Amino acid sequence: MPPPRTFAITTFGCQMNVYDSERMAEALVAAGYTAVEGAADLTVLNTCHIREKAAEKVYSEIGRLKKHGARMIAVAGCVAQAEGAEIMARAPGVDIVVGPQAYHRLPEMVARAAEKPVDTDMPLAPKFDALPPRARRVGPSAHLTVQEGCDKFCAFCVVPYTRGAEASRPADAVLAEATALVAGGAREITLLGQNVNAYRDADGVTLAQLIRRLARLPGLARIRYTTSHPRDMDDDLIAAHAQIPALMPFLHLPVQSGSDAVLKRMNRQHSAADYLRLIECVRRVRPDIALSGDFIVGFPGETDADFEATLALVSEAQYAQAYSFKYSPRPGTPAARAADPVPDAVATVRLARLQDLLFEQQAAFNRASEGHMVDVLFDRPGRLPGQLMGKTPHLQSVHVIAPGLAIGQIAPVHIVSAGPRSLEGTLAPMMHAA
Ligand code: SAH
Ligand code: SF4
Ligand code: F3S
Repeated sequence: MPPPRTFAITTFGCQMNVYDSERMAEALVAAGYTAVEGAADLTVLNTCHIREKAAEKVYSEIGRLKKHGARMIAVAGCVAQAEGAEIMARAPGVDIVVGPQAYHRLPEMVARAAEKPVDTDMPLAPKFDALPPRARRVGPSAHLTVQEGCDKFCAFCVVPYTRGAEASRPADAVLAEATALVAGGAREITLLGQNVNAYRDADGVTLAQLIRRLARLPGLARIRYTTSHPRDMDDDLIAAHAQIPALMPFLHLPVQSGSDAVLKRMNRQHSAADYLRLIECVRRVRPDIALSGDFIVGFPGETDADFEATLALVSEAQYAQAYSFKYSPRPGTPAARAADPVPDAVATVRLARLQDLLFEQQAAFNRASEGHMVDVLFDRPGRLPGQLMGKTPHLQSVHVIAPGLAIGQIAPVHIVSAGPRSLEGTLAPMMHAA
């Protein structure tokens, strides 16, 4: 079999996987492979293990690829870490299994794919030092992983097992990568970590201090960070939201449940009141902050009263957007052994009620932008001729007919109408008859 020349990467899961896929692509390009859309000599599936559905999707995708004559398949990401060589036993069409901490070795593994290599080491040697430098051209909105892994061990979650212990990259390495991204065209950088606000490098630099340093980079207009844990939301990071204009008024702060009994069994290490107090502190310094969150319904033992407490917390906190999921038992996690599962039909009804409430809040948040001028960073073409899509500081999607503007520009936009999922704006302020 001739060696592969082309590759394609399919990404599942969170933004960190999106970032990892970019870095894998750069490593393959540096090793002489060419990225293509669709059928390729090498297909990399960058996988997610967070819920059963996400993990199972990988196997149907492998089946589909084999049916279409895929030559070489590599499984990367969190399913690779969790299942390792078992993947090859279950799906013999897979040639390579590479975990999230080993993907800098992917090009070398492709070269010896005939041996069916599996690498799920969680090495001390940092992969970031072994990866090639960032690509010379990047989009206006870039991701940058600054922290990986999790030490929190929520009872339902696989991340501490698939991504390992919390580790932070040195601030200087982050600054260097950010500088390269800005030189390549990035106007906005989202700092990523499974617990990004637990960031602390070997010199003791915190996330707030890192953001202050990044804010001094000429050309970098917007800074975001995700995902945060309530326990790591310190006063200095809250203060940064008041002090740093480039730090966008948006906070993704998962809470999972509004019931203290459930939070305790989830091992979240905070109460509903702790969370609400935190939100209040943030809003005191940044009243316009857009709040986002994650929720799980149907956690083992969740009663009607527990679920009502979640609805009450949502009503009190007021979200601009949020993600909500039905609990999915995951192998190896403590909650998977719980004896009191919630019937699926009950969880389905609860999820629908929660999503209705969250959707209403999102629609109301968007409606409040109508008639206002907001700065929009244009990051992709729209579907209509001359139309561009972009993001507000609050991370709302906006479409604007803007024939004179280019992707990567930031311009004030007048919001003329707001749907629940996106806004519509015009470049010039509307003229009103006297
Ligand atoms: N580090 C982040 C989130 C990581 S996973 C945090 O601390 O919140 C993203 C979201 O997936 C979680 O916030 C949770 O809402 C959801 N999730 C994680 N494990 C899950 C499971 N077993 N079943 C359903 N949802 C889950
Ligand atoms: Fe998972 Fe909890 Fe860690 Fe988030 S904080 S990654 S939910 S264990
Ligand atoms: Fe999924 Fe791994 Fe991200 S399990 S959510 S891809 S950290």
